[in-house]
Amino acid sequence: MAYRWKNDLTLADATPEAAFLNRRQIMAGMAGLGLASMASPGVASTELEPNTWDEVTNYCNFYEFGTGKGDPAANAHLMTTEPWSVTIDGMVDKPGEYDFQQILSNMTLEERIYRFRCVEAWSMVIPWNGFELADLLNMAGVQEGAKYVAFETLLRPSEMPGTAYRVIDWPYREGLRLDEAMHPLTIMATGIFGKPMPNQNGAPLRLVVPWKYGFKSIKSIVRITLTDQEPPTSWNMANAREYGFYSNVNPNVDHPRWSQASERRIGGGLFASREPTLMFNGYEAEVASLYEGMDLAKFF
Ligand code: MTE
Repeated sequence: MAYRWKNDLTLADATPEAAFLNRRQIMAGMAGLGLASMASPGVASTELEPNTWDEVTNYCNFYEFGTGKGDPAANAHLMTTEPWSVTIDGMVDKPGEYDFQQILSNMTLEERIYRFRCVEAWSMVIPWNGFELADLLNMAGVQEGAKYVAFETLLRPSEMPGTAYRVIDWPYREGLRLDEAMHPLTIMATGIFGKPMPNQNGAPLRLVVPWKYGFKSIKSIVRITLTDQEPPTSWNMANAREYGFYSNVNPNVDHPRWSQASERRIGGGLFASREPTLMFNGYEAEVASLYEGMDLAKFF
């Protein structure tokens, strides 16, 4: 890639897992996260302190295992993640079923500390491990004319009690425009805190698109399809008025039922004040150009 993110965030006050990562090279998105500490390397702001392992792994959305925040932690152990393969098909030069371990051995793993903002107006800061989605797509060879990337989660009802309920039209599906998918901030995460991805967070590999609402970051991916049509996506199919295809974090475009101007940091305590939500979740400098000339209230 032309550029990568690197800075000297100090995580001394964070969890043991994060402190471990601090001894290694920490990669992070700059805007909203790193700029202050780039100016004065080594100075951590509280804002940058990652959430704890317990918070990240116990407060989850993974409806295949139930709709309660604790359901994924309670039920996701039922999911078999070995062996695992990802079918990459559609407009690619090398379509096929790629073994997860084989993918891993061909990718450069990095740590990225990103803000994570759910459409429900809560947020966390999560230290992910993974690789750039662009590297995977380049491995498969994106063909001329491809414009979108569609993703699909595993659907295995015998191991996914939540799929007995038609909360959404399974399998969970998501999609990105190709330029969003190729953006260097977009990663396929294979772990958190330097450890393999816990099942409830989307083992063994899930998408992370830090400037979009969390539901775009689809978990436990088994299929990636390159296409020239905007693909159907689960939440948009469930309620197009409330969930758009783009779903960029935007404090100026409210959800029909609640404001998106502020958010609640998980772990901040019941009485913590809400924090203002940042345009593109703090990654405006990196991604605003992708949407130049687009009406962000219309393409929400
Ligand atoms: N992926 C699948 N397959 N199923 C889901 O229910 N929930 C989404 C997203 N990816 C979801 C999913 C939502 S709404 C959010 S906010 C994030 O996962 C939550 O990720 P986390 O639990 O790792 O914080």
